[in-house]
Amino acid sequence: MAQTQLKSQTGDVRDWPFDVKPLHPVLGCEITGITLEQAVSPNLFAKVYEAFLDYEVILFRDVDLPPATQVAFARNFGEVQIHVLSEQYGYAGHPEIYMLSNLDKDGNPSGKHPDKGTLYWHTDGSWRERTGQATMMYSEIVPPVGGETEFADMYSAYELLPAAMKAKIDGRRAVHNLDFSRTRRHGEGLLTATQKSEVPPVAHPIVRTHPDTGRKAIFLGDHAESIEGMDYDEGRALIEELNVMITPPARVYSHRWSPRECIVWDNRCTLHRATGFDEARLKRVMRRCTINGDRPF
Ligand SMILES: [Fe+2]
Repeated sequence: MAQTQLKSQTGDVRDWPFDVKPLHPVLGCEITGITLEQAVSPNLFAKVYEAFLDYEVILFRDVDLPPATQVAFARNFGEVQIHVLSEQYGYAGHPEIYMLSNLDKDGNPSGKHPDKGTLYWHTDGSWRERTGQATMMYSEIVPPVGGETEFADMYSAYELLPAAMKAKIDGRRAVHNLDFSRTRRHGEGLLTATQKSEVPPVAHPIVRTHPDTGRKAIFLGDHAESIEGMDYDEGRALIEELNVMITPPARVYSHRWSPRECIVWDNRCTLHRATGFDEARLKRVMRRCTINGDRPF
């Protein structure tokens, strides 16, 4: 196995028994030289987790990842979430898996996007008290055009904000609400009264501290509805403004999927979104597991 020695953003020397190839100048790397199975093994996982913290998005190509294995691998990162919408999106026998598929029961493109909310910048599970730590996504079938996943780094998004904006949001909390974002983006498949009661709106700091790296990152995205202590419309306008400011195209990595790829991203310091595709003619089947993290601080 190759030895990779390089310096992390915090200046620590990294000595990894695998290779990393950056995917973009800002974030993301491909890990090679080890399999995903080796990556989650007890003797390597701590090193892989370092790479995950340094690069925020890690990619493994050509992975054989049956659903049960995906759940087992995801558990190395922590407790795997069972989504409030698992009845609609779960995988038979594996409620921890959230399926994103546009296929009908005969396996043909249905013309319906499985989850329109994924088309807007967000971070997984920000509408929960304990928000998403990591998400592990696997590509089964990908369209030849469209259906990319884009990632934006929220550490530099914070660092690059004008001082006046930093002062404006310092100490502020945004209220995240799945019912809000889903109603706004879908217009169908809305939450039932029971589901709504399971995921009431929850406030999180707009500038959070990453619990592992200690670095500050913006924590916002499409589930953020309002800002505590601020007029609703004023808060909405500020959230919209910030969501654009923190995702400039030049600082975004857009991943063009091939089948059998596995990406794990850090929901605590990134935003992501999917790009659209022709749901009536092309097939896209992805499955993901989200790992529960801490309450942001
Ligand atoms: Fe997502």
